[in-house]
Amino acid sequence: MSRQGEAANNVMVKKDNPKGMRKGLTRYGDDAFALFLRKSFIKGAGYGDDALDRTVIGIADTGSDFNPCHGNSEDLIEQIRAGVLAAGGLPMAFPTISLHESFAYPTSMYLRNLMAMDTEEMLKSLPVDAVVLVGGCDKTVPAQVMGALSANIPFVQLVTGPMSTGSFHGERVGACTDCRRLWGDFRAGRLTEDEISEANDALVPTIGTCGVMGTASTMALLVEALGLAPLGSATAPAVSADRRRIAEQAGHLAVDIAKRRCHPTDILTLASFENALRVLLAVGGSTNAIIHLTAMAGRLGIKLSLDRLDELSKQTPVIVDLKPSGTGYMEDLHAAGGSVRILSALSGFLEMQAMTVTGQTLGQELSNIDIPNWPQDIIRSSKQPIYREGGLAVLYGNLAPQGAIIKQVAASQHLLSYTGRAVVFANMADLASRIDSPDLDVSQDDILVLRQIGPKGAPGMPEAGLIPIPKKLAKQGVKDMVRISDGRMSGTAAGTIILHVAPESAVGGPLSLVRTGDQIQLDVAKRQLDMLVSDQELERRRAEQPVASSAELRGYEKLFYDHVLQAPDGVDFDFLRAKKDGH
Ligand code: FES
Repeated sequence: MSRQGEAANNVMVKKDNPKGMRKGLTRYGDDAFALFLRKSFIKGAGYGDDALDRTVIGIADTGSDFNPCHGNSEDLIEQIRAGVLAAGGLPMAFPTISLHESFAYPTSMYLRNLMAMDTEEMLKSLPVDAVVLVGGCDKTVPAQVMGALSANIPFVQLVTGPMSTGSFHGERVGACTDCRRLWGDFRAGRLTEDEISEANDALVPTIGTCGVMGTASTMALLVEALGLAPLGSATAPAVSADRRRIAEQAGHLAVDIAKRRCHPTDILTLASFENALRVLLAVGGSTNAIIHLTAMAGRLGIKLSLDRLDELSKQTPVIVDLKPSGTGYMEDLHAAGGSVRILSALSGFLEMQAMTVTGQTLGQELSNIDIPNWPQDIIRSSKQPIYREGGLAVLYGNLAPQGAIIKQVAASQHLLSYTGRAVVFANMADLASRIDSPDLDVSQDDILVLRQIGPKGAPGMPEAGLIPIPKKLAKQGVKDMVRISDGRMSGTAAGTIILHVAPESAVGGPLSLVRTGDQIQLDVAKRQLDMLVSDQELERRRAEQPVASSAELRGYEKLFYDHVLQAPDGVDFDFLRAKKDGH
């Protein structure tokens, strides 16, 4: 082609199936001019026509100085770039919102849907043929997947990887199960101020996500079980050569899926999500993952019900021994063989025909590799599990007509069938002002109830469901009580904690009707959660309830309040879910 011909080709608009830089041209009323202008600008960054003709791989960068869980993202992005270039693509990184659990007021869940919207709109707006989503901290992976599913852009999920463990007074520690345990020791007077300050230096010894089976680790395993991440990619530590190699592999894979035009809707089915639920149960994963998976499935019009979760829980053994319900840390899980070994151990429970981003089924992928089989004590076989039944149970009753969740493997076994007197806190401010008071009327036999921490209540359903043991009881050595709320708890937490009570108290759910002194009955084996109060009395209380309104709110807070759904629907916004008539 003559130089003139080449030049014309460089700004030629392709109407059918536009790819790369020719996709999604800005609307000026003249597409050729829009492409000409786009290329003029991007050439200002030093790109040439050959590079700009390649398959474009976006890299969603969620790094931030406020996000140490993503502290390696710059390095990972360089590795992804190397993989994309080696496979003949053009890597283009771009930022989206970054969420870290400790730097998200009022709570990161409040912002998850905003991050999902940001991700979706950027993916629809930018000229990318596929994207590598770099996330890790709890809400980031679900937000990215929700957005990418709605955009229906070919994508690969890359997680930043778990942090390493630290040492406190000779004891191995890691965020954040040990953060909570040591803080409990400090509240109870078992650690001094100097000691808790020392612990503060030791608990997070490296960048990376929490090093136990919290929400980040759970979601990393689940995106792999869904077929959306490279096989074996969930567990490699953030600070490891493995993690860097996986990033390069993700870059390669992204070019491949772009060329195959492998859209998420080509891969994901109800079976894929049920595989993820099975893995969640088998690893004793975070309760938050139920909400996230439900929201992700809802973006494709796939319904995940609590009843099905409970059914799967009864059939799925717990095979991974990690904190908070077990003993190990994520680096132990990686050394034990990681996700590949888990998926292989669960092969009899998983749908092996489910597709993955590689274009192969999960079964084909597993059959292509050597499954680790060295001796270890973190991942059990399904025949010799840690628990025969799954880690989560779904409760119903007059206190939770639309369901509630308990992580029974992280609970005190003697409290799983229990009746006690309710001690009710109206909201988080009430809890904060009274929980440590020596005058609080409470005994270790009571049940603590916290209202107004559901999706609309707080707002954003904060991880405040791990109601602290009242100080005067903690000092007596009480470590666990039955605690009930419409909120969530961190995946790194443990205790007899009933969460996600639906409908929440802020919309008039029965939790709003409980009074201090009422008897509450919990029977996990029967899946029941009831308050022993007559229907007439509950009706009387209901009639006295004030009516909540969002009239005084503005901006994102109003959008959130008016559109957020309840926990059994994934706490997504109603207008972001798939339309009934298709994607
Ligand atoms: Fe980021 Fe725990 S705070 S994963």
